[in-house]
Amino acid sequence: MTSPVTAVMVGAGERGYAAYGPYALEHPDELRFVAVAEPNEARRRRFAAAHRIPPEAQFRSWEHLLAHGRMADGAFICTMDQMHAGPAVAALRSGYHVLLEKPIGTTRADAISVVDTAERTEKLLQVCHVLRHTSFFLTLHEIVTSGRLGELVSVEHRENVVYWHMAHSYVRGNWRRRDDSCPIILAKCSHDLDILAWNLGRCRELSSFAPPRYFRPENAPDGAPPRCTDGCPAAYDCPWFAPRLYLDLVPLLHVARRSPNLVERAGARFSLRFPRITQWLRQSAPPLERALDYRDWPISAISEDTSRAARRRALEEGPYGRCVFHCDNDVVDHQTVAMRFECGASGTLVLNGHSHEEARTMRYDGTRATLRGKFAYGLDDVIEIHDHRTGEVERIDFGVGAAGVTGHGGGDERLIRTFVRAVGGDRDAAASSREALESHLIAFAADEARLEHRVVTLWRP
Ligand SMILES: NC(=O)c1ccc[n+]([C@@H]2O[C@H](COP(=O)([O-])OP(=O)(O)OC[C@H]3O[C@@H](n4cnc5c(N)ncnc54)[C@H](O)[C@@H]3O)[C@@H](O)[C@H]2O)c1
Repeated sequence: MTSPVTAVMVGAGERGYAAYGPYALEHPDELRFVAVAEPNEARRRRFAAAHRIPPEAQFRSWEHLLAHGRMADGAFICTMDQMHAGPAVAALRSGYHVLLEKPIGTTRADAISVVDTAERTEKLLQVCHVLRHTSFFLTLHEIVTSGRLGELVSVEHRENVVYWHMAHSYVRGNWRRRDDSCPIILAKCSHDLDILAWNLGRCRELSSFAPPRYFRPENAPDGAPPRCTDGCPAAYDCPWFAPRLYLDLVPLLHVARRSPNLVERAGARFSLRFPRITQWLRQSAPPLERALDYRDWPISAISEDTSRAARRRALEEGPYGRCVFHCDNDVVDHQTVAMRFECGASGTLVLNGHSHEEARTMRYDGTRATLRGKFAYGLDDVIEIHDHRTGEVERIDFGVGAAGVTGHGGGDERLIRTFVRAVGGDRDAAASSREALESHLIAFAADEARLEHRVVTLWRP
């Protein structure tokens, strides 16, 4: 038996602990975490305990960890957006192969410097563009590049962000301000732009528009206090009312509404339709409360202690209980990018933060066939190919997976497997970091085009 690839974890938060950490626990023969850097003590201890990391390999920051010299084959960098380029460059220079969360950097110069460093040091840099690793997007790529659609003429791709996810991440949460994070078109759509560039080649030129932000004080309901927990008169009318999202488990119910299980589906529909009765039933029937004991993302992001009392406290004191109209957010909640690609096709990307469901939808029109697709994280993913000449429709159903809203439809797990294999010697397994950079260059250009109201040329043949 070959020994597992070893790695250090930098940033043991949502992604580090919950999305990537479990792979090592489930596949100890493939991957082992041997050190962790995390300033939050509870999170550091939680990760160290799960992976049996001794005290001398637990660090308060990436600087302390990297100062120790190389301790493993790979470094997983899962810190927040603004803290990607610094640790990535340092880790590459220290001799680590790096798995880096997106974005590569929050400025064009930073992103380029990380990729340049990877090439100079000849170390592997795998960017966490997880969608490339899902069966859905692998199939889509195969069909588009097979020539079966004929010559590609136009592509429409939508990133439909469900309304509560928009509020959670981009109004109340970590990605609400570009100075703390980056432009939303990079934060949310680097995956989408990566898929478009993968399928259509480089982008030649683009323009971009966004309407004014919806989540502004002018749009608040009359009398809405700064926090939902301060007695908001719009409590039952507002889709973003925080106790409904984080205590009544609305995210889970949205998933359950499409579950193959009839009872789960009926329960979810009932709860969403009759929130007051459900709340009363839940409070007066503890077994029901326990049965619906969902504690994964986004619940896990508001407090490490996910008990009901701790969650309520987090809403009363922390960022996730704020009224969505009274936050300090500045990123837009809708943006359109119009592009012309290397292959000659034109494309549009729509980022929409007011969707009823979390799903990417797309349409590829070629001279011989039209492809329509929907990727809903393993819930009811489907691709249809409509052949112009025969009128036949091929439908590829991906079934209802167990992935749910987390795991990116299996993409998270496959991404790590690819990294582990690439570190183990199969370099062809991973996409090149130069290729991953393309989506970032498009996103920075789209942000410029939106702000400066102009067409931006990225590349001329
Ligand atoms: N690939 C994807 O599909 C995907 C999905 C969600 C998030 N992300 C990206 O993953 C990254 C992490 O997101 P998250 O939700 O896990 O955030 P998070 O805030 O939960 O985790 C980041 C962690 O980094 C820690 N940290 C802060 N300073 C540090 C330092 N000096 N040294 C080491 N650790 C430090 C924080 O304490 C925190 O625990 C973000 O950049 C985000 O954009 C990617």
